[in-house]
Amino acid sequence: MRKPTRREPPRAVTIVIFGATGNLARVKLLPALYQLEFAEQLAKETRIIGFGRRDWSDEEWREEVRQLCLAGDTGEEDCPPEAAMERLLARLHWQNGDINEASCFEDLADQLTHSQYPDCVLFYFAVTPKAFGAICHHLGACGMTDESIGCRRVVIEKPFGHDLQSAHALDGLLHQHFEERQIFRIDHYLGKGTVQNIMVMRFANLLLEPLWNRNYIDHVQISHAEELGIEGRGEYYDSAGALRDMVQSHLMQMLTLVAMEPPASMDAEAVRDEKVKVLRCVRPISPRGVHAQAFRAQYARGTVRGENERSYLDEPGVPENSVTETYAALKLYIDNWRWRGVPFYLRTGKRMAQSYSQISIRFREPPQQLFRETQIDNTAPNWLLIGIQPEENFRFEIQIKAEGLEMRTRTVQMDATYTAPQPANLDAYATLLLDAINGDQTLFLRYDEVSWAWQVVDPILRNWAVEQDYIPTYPAGTWGPPEADRLFDDDAHRWRNNLKIPGED
Ligand code: BG6
Repeated sequence: MRKPTRREPPRAVTIVIFGATGNLARVKLLPALYQLEFAEQLAKETRIIGFGRRDWSDEEWREEVRQLCLAGDTGEEDCPPEAAMERLLARLHWQNGDINEASCFEDLADQLTHSQYPDCVLFYFAVTPKAFGAICHHLGACGMTDESIGCRRVVIEKPFGHDLQSAHALDGLLHQHFEERQIFRIDHYLGKGTVQNIMVMRFANLLLEPLWNRNYIDHVQISHAEELGIEGRGEYYDSAGALRDMVQSHLMQMLTLVAMEPPASMDAEAVRDEKVKVLRCVRPISPRGVHAQAFRAQYARGTVRGENERSYLDEPGVPENSVTETYAALKLYIDNWRWRGVPFYLRTGKRMAQSYSQISIRFREPPQQLFRETQIDNTAPNWLLIGIQPEENFRFEIQIKAEGLEMRTRTVQMDATYTAPQPANLDAYATLLLDAINGDQTLFLRYDEVSWAWQVVDPILRNWAVEQDYIPTYPAGTWGPPEADRLFDDDAHRWRNNLKIPGED
């Protein structure tokens, strides 16, 4: 593994994980800590406390973590996995506790006074939002939010609320015990290398800025497709759906990075101020406009990579009459000087034909079609394609003269793959954890961002909540129902499904 270079040495912290045996901790958090260990980005003194109901000893938890980290291990030559693993395991301590029991928090508070635990403490809420209230209350009651000894930070996962109202209630609750600077609302998309690269590409180059507006950009697509289904998360997913799970958070964040104005500086507040301005300018969707601007669907039985996959309704934990969407597409307009009239199409789906995340920006046609007569299909516009995953890169599509004697054009791609971060770098969770450890909030969400993002999707959620009779379906392994195309403003608009030139994929 390539070791990332950071400016300052890693800071010593105590990380307390609530929900240490849950899905999130197992799939994302603990592997990310292993990655940080591997990359030598954890301070020698850093300690990790797992808090949960299992009656485990330190050794039992360590064995559990060893098994799950090794299962996803990359096996690097220059750093034997065992060495990093042993270092990580030595940091782990198990604290048997129930989040509803005050005495368990007293035990935790007592534990934290031991000298082996660094004074700066990061509480990671890897639990369902329903549990946040109890944890905050007990942390406050036991004096664990008091910063007189060392910093106290809380890392919170999405979904941050269920809608605008519940997000507001949740935020009020957090602020009873923590100040905004102590709250780290994580959106792991902001930890992805290419997502961060959007800002660098826009603001470290002069080239794009003159074109980055309604005069030259025809429309923008932000798309995230997954071959995976809901992976045993039926209960959570059915109450969330694609709009809450992906659009309100990850896709909306990508939208802000594409559309924001240059910030005054790269300080957390300056960057977040600009992102909020974008969300405030999103044209509100009226109740009657929902049909024209949003589309939902659910996967039916189908085939993904040659495997037969069951329908969403047959997934464990999903009610047989559920109309929860596994696919959501919407069209938004940003009513400001730069973007007025430019449609932003957002799309996400589970059990789609291919896993990919991409931002595709289509430029307008040149004012005069000088080469139109030579061949009818030579009017392809320029595109900028930003691959988020699995490929991380930027590609410009431009027209050049085709080989031969005639004056014909063809599309070629200029590929800036070399500018993308190396795949061996830290993944999104590890990057963000490191920022939380170092107290950098730039890539975490401020509450007003969350709240404005809810305001954008709330009218859609309200409309879908009352339309409980029917939801269109699409066979697993496809790109979703063609009816979603009704969102397009122009007959020439088409989803870009990957980084290849249309017709060559
Ligand atoms: C999570 C969603 O936030 O993001 C999942 O809850 C989704 O449903 C995942 O699969 C996608 O993240 P990534 O990094 O795999 O693209």
